[in-house]
Amino acid sequence: MNFPILHIPVVGDGMTIALNAVLHVCISHGLAIGLMAMLVLFQTLTWKGKGQFWADIARKLLGPLVVVTTSIGAVTGVGIWILTGSLAPEGIGALIHLFFWPWFIEWFAFTAEVILLLCYYYRWDKLITTKPGTLAAIGWAYVATSLVSAILITGILGFMLTPQGWPWARSFTEAYFNPTFVPQCFLRVGGGLGMGVLLLLAWIAWRFKGTPQERGRALRACGIALLLSLIVTAVSSYVYFSRVPLTYLTHWKFAVATSHLSQMPDFLPTANVAAVLVLLLTALVALIRQPLLSRLLCIPALLLSICFVMEFERVREFIRGPYLMPGYMHASQITLVESEALAAENKALLPRLRWVNTSDSQTPTTQAAKTLFAANCGVCHAESGINGIDQRLAGRSADGINAMLGITQRLAPYMTPFVGSEQERTLLTEYLFELTSNYSRRSQQAAREK
Ligand code: HEC
Repeated sequence: MNFPILHIPVVGDGMTIALNAVLHVCISHGLAIGLMAMLVLFQTLTWKGKGQFWADIARKLLGPLVVVTTSIGAVTGVGIWILTGSLAPEGIGALIHLFFWPWFIEWFAFTAEVILLLCYYYRWDKLITTKPGTLAAIGWAYVATSLVSAILITGILGFMLTPQGWPWARSFTEAYFNPTFVPQCFLRVGGGLGMGVLLLLAWIAWRFKGTPQERGRALRACGIALLLSLIVTAVSSYVYFSRVPLTYLTHWKFAVATSHLSQMPDFLPTANVAAVLVLLLTALVALIRQPLLSRLLCIPALLLSICFVMEFERVREFIRGPYLMPGYMHASQITLVESEALAAENKALLPRLRWVNTSDSQTPTTQAAKTLFAANCGVCHAESGINGIDQRLAGRSADGINAMLGITQRLAPYMTPFVGSEQERTLLTEYLFELTSNYSRRSQQAAREK
């Protein structure tokens, strides 16, 4: 471990990364790919003589889309780098070594994307009357680069779940073109298109000022696109999950709001089926040009699609369980090789963390114990706060905690093994026992005050 450990207190690392990443995915997939593809399609329809109202709809939505994607979209994208780079530097470091080229090329694709988007927006007024074909070409070139950018990143994300024997094989192509790469590309593009269409549908149903015929035609176009995106998303998720190893898949139902919903294992599958039905119904009422029903359904459908994004990203990250990269590195950024070597020889972890100085602190043992917690558990548990470890351990004795530290992986298949010597384990036990005793004391006091 060459980099200092940084963890987000209270909210936790995972939740912090997720909040930023889900916002980014909704904007980059839903707006930058899905909605933008639909707007370019509408503008193309006007160019092909299908009516002026298509381009009018596109023009109305283009401005807000450009503002949101180039501000919040871009900032949250950089946010993913900053957060993962500071919270998991070893993991990101390993990924950059392996996937230098796709990432490098992706930065060019992203730059081209922004330039084309701005050209499309700022040249619109001039080109829409004189050269609508050129405008459409810029638009489709933008859509193409945004797809390239999404596909480049997906290879890396797929690798983190299905690395196909890396690092033993150590071949770039095997790592990049892993089994979940292709289905995930279709899944992301299909899902993005669906979200974009739903936004467009909501605008047409609620805000469009054209004639009823025009509205009907626009609704039908959205209905067809939504149905298509649902089919692509459904088929590709089926293929995607059928390629995820069973050892991971078994605990997907526990991925969402772990502690509470895990008591109701049927909740998530049932909710998913219900959500798919609502989305399907939304596509059908748009397809048969029903403005009122479209109005009623589009907002819930849009919210459900955002829930699907959250669920997918959460499940994808969660089922990987104890690994940041299966076969290579634990979620705690300690490589499997290092963890096994330390365990075999009962070696201490702290001397390996070169940036920690536990010798000159006022309270050396607390400092050391805190570091052990940060290195071993901090990536998934905060000391207190949301799902805090103090609360999870409440009621356990020190001996119980010590025993638990030896069997974390058997306690839950998604936890990493404790890494460190026997003395370090005792040190961490004492620290955890103190945390949970403080928690119990606080909650008893709160109960008495009530
Ligand atoms: C890779 C992520 C990860 C790491 C690292 C991790 N845990 Fe967990 N832990 C979890 C998850 C997920 C749960 C289940 C949470 C739930 O059910 O709400 C959990 C649950 C627990 C529970 C409750 C178990 C129960 O049966 O109620 C305890 C106690 C716990 N962890 C302690 C630890 C300690 C101590 C460490 C460090 C040595 C650690 N964990 C490291 C992910 C992790």
